[in-house]
Amino acid sequence: MPDLKINFAGIKAPNPFWLASAPPTNSGYQIMKAFDQGWGGAVWKTLGIPVVNVSSRYGAVNYRDSRMIGFNNIELITDRPLKDNLREIEEVKKYFPDHAVIASLMVESRKEWHQIVKDAENAGVDGLELNFGCPHGMCERGMGSAVGQEPEVLKLIVSWVKEVAKTPVIVKLTPNITDITDAGIAARQGGADAISLINTVQSIVGVDIDNFVPYPVVDGKSTNGGYCGPAVKPIALNMVKNCAQESEIGIPVSGIGGIENWRDAVEFILLGASSVQVCTAVMHYGFGIIREIIPGFESYMKEKGFDSVDEMTGKAVQNVKTWENLNLNYQIVAEINKEKCIGCQLCYIACEDGAHQAIGLSENGTRVPFIIEENCVGCNLCSLVCPVENCISMVRTDDGKKSVTWKERTEAGNIPVSFNDPLAGGLHHTIPEPTAALKKKNTF
Ligand SMILES: Cc1cc2nc3c(=O)[nH]c(=O)nc-3n(C[C@H](O)[C@H](O)[C@H](O)COP(=O)(O)O)c2cc1C
Repeated sequence: MPDLKINFAGIKAPNPFWLASAPPTNSGYQIMKAFDQGWGGAVWKTLGIPVVNVSSRYGAVNYRDSRMIGFNNIELITDRPLKDNLREIEEVKKYFPDHAVIASLMVESRKEWHQIVKDAENAGVDGLELNFGCPHGMCERGMGSAVGQEPEVLKLIVSWVKEVAKTPVIVKLTPNITDITDAGIAARQGGADAISLINTVQSIVGVDIDNFVPYPVVDGKSTNGGYCGPAVKPIALNMVKNCAQESEIGIPVSGIGGIENWRDAVEFILLGASSVQVCTAVMHYGFGIIREIIPGFESYMKEKGFDSVDEMTGKAVQNVKTWENLNLNYQIVAEINKEKCIGCQLCYIACEDGAHQAIGLSENGTRVPFIIEENCVGCNLCSLVCPVENCISMVRTDDGKKSVTWKERTEAGNIPVSFNDPLAGGLHHTIPEPTAALKKKNTF
């Protein structure tokens, strides 16, 4: 069996699947229940000077039959007394000594940081996570993302923490920044042992159009919140990859954002994470999702021959290049499986109006469209909109041998000089003439 145990920047855990700091880690009761079901670690709901929260707090974006494709919250840090949280941390560590318990922290002054680090460590935590990511409420008070957006301030605060911390320090980054690697580098320079990302994306999920107030509504008013769940996974994956590729960061990364199943976890790990954290999926489906994550992840490891999570970490990073290093000669075209096609013609509409007019409709009465190969640029759109699995596949048509990248081309001096230059574009597909009726209608 592959070994799921990890040592993340000095924090040991039975597996890389941790709960992110959020409502599921609000209490010892919840965390013990989660550990019992299989989670390997938990980052406690952010500790600091307890806040007063509002009601309501959450909003969501639903997509057709999918509930909560994106989730939004305006909740602050813990509203429970520090002493209760510390007592429960001690208790969790007593019953689950081998699981990772990490305290998420957020305070203001150097003195407060020193005190809360000592308090958390005295309670027995295995590590600390500094919350420099919360993009609502706390940032108005100069904390959370207000720190994460200022690399110099972030670096200073990390160095305050490192003055007293005895356990590993993870810095949790905000995605609400132009280049997340600036904050990652600052964390490293301040002495961080690891980084975690992403916290939530500043957002408004919708507006009550009858009462003119965005969601979630608090007595007729609202405020921007933080967006998370499956909708943010692509943003998080890209940022994890950016940090993994940045040599000036060079410390372990804990990946967070939209993880719901073993496949999501694998993706984060392949792009450079060595542990993952989950919040929204647990708020949606409960702690029990771990019962599918672990066996699915183990089967994948076995199938690919990985013995440890370390062996998997970053495996896909080498295949993420800048655009100029992609093979311009690689060519694929769409192929429609006539047996599987249900004749909905969504592919035709998408290609006709939104892409390259490379799908035609037969005049013989069949509803199955056909591909006009010479117009097809291999963009994937038809296969993405097709509702039938494996009905449209993309088939390689170049010879598979000669690769040329934009970089090689420009370095060889083959830079197109005008839009008419053949080098400016390899494909010259026929764009149909507007119909006579259309032209007539629009003649003024
Ligand atoms: C309701 C709610 C409360 C949260 N509270 C915290 C918090 O106290 N500290 C923190 O670092 N992140 C907090 N987060 C952010 C999550 O830890 C996580 O970074 C984010 O939700 C992305 O992961 P997900 O897509 O799995 O939810 C919160 C998220 C939600 C939805």
